[in-house]
Amino acid sequence: MTTLVWAGGLLRAEGEPVIAAGDHGWTVGDGVFETLEIVGGRAFGLRRHLKRLAYSAARMGMAEIDQEVVREAVGEVLAAGSGLRRLRITVSSGPGPAPLARGGGPHTIVVTADDAAPAPSCHAVRVPWRRNERSALAGVKSTSYAENVVIMEFARSRGADEAVLANTHGHLCEGAASNIVIERAGEIVTPPLASGCLPGIVRGLALEWGAEAGLPVRVAAPGELELGVLDEVVAGDAFAAVTSSTRRIQPLASLDKTPLEHGPLLAQLRSVFEERAALDHDPAPRHSK
Ligand SMILES: Cc1ncc(COP(=O)(O)O)c(C=O)c1O
Repeated sequence: MTTLVWAGGLLRAEGEPVIAAGDHGWTVGDGVFETLEIVGGRAFGLRRHLKRLAYSAARMGMAEIDQEVVREAVGEVLAAGSGLRRLRITVSSGPGPAPLARGGGPHTIVVTADDAAPAPSCHAVRVPWRRNERSALAGVKSTSYAENVVIMEFARSRGADEAVLANTHGHLCEGAASNIVIERAGEIVTPPLASGCLPGIVRGLALEWGAEAGLPVRVAAPGELELGVLDEVVAGDAFAAVTSSTRRIQPLASLDKTPLEHGPLLAQLRSVFEERAALDHDPAPRHSK
């Protein structure tokens, strides 16, 4: 795999150290990040990702991120490589004097890109852990992601590559690294942001583009989707798909090892997304629902 690295104003050799030992992103995961798909040498949805990066930083109480620096870094990385598939922007609060005290210094900004192919299908499992919708980091794309790593390792140990989580109320929430959409009773619904899920870029576009194409797609009312809806999915009475920047809209191929059929409406939503994404690689940001 080829990885390009931009840090401290320069493109770096892969593997070159770029983080100070006391960086708060390194010591306590005090940072924010974005993962973007690269299509034809361009970062898909860059404006929306930069908006969410700023939102995540504001939610964490970090100083405002210099978006121009990030944009320039993204441009340099994209110009330096070919065949790239995935871009990551990571911004930490910078050097910190103590684990629980932030420094006032400049952010640490790192942009990387690689040619990793997206997962061809999605096999998911249910997991024993919950998303805490009242966490200080609920809905924030923070670098404090070890919880998701643990969940993903659990999924991998069971032959899967994604996990589906409920929140502390037992309401359907999201995947370890994706949002979830359910097709049932002739419509497509996705958990509300109040469930604690991330305001996913692809989730948002699926809602907007799906509605504009006349598909019955909406955000569920809080509590409308219980985790038990996954029993309906396993029974074949409902269908599920995950959404993320690397998977786009991907139907669940299996859940807890039960093979699943693809929902017809979700297939239409997927086609609409593919068509619209091919026409517009950087859709204007809108308010997240
Ligand atoms: C926890 C979580 N939820 C949802 C998503 C999907 O978000 P997006 O569509 O912006 O990639 C991700 C992406 O990595 C994620 O980590």
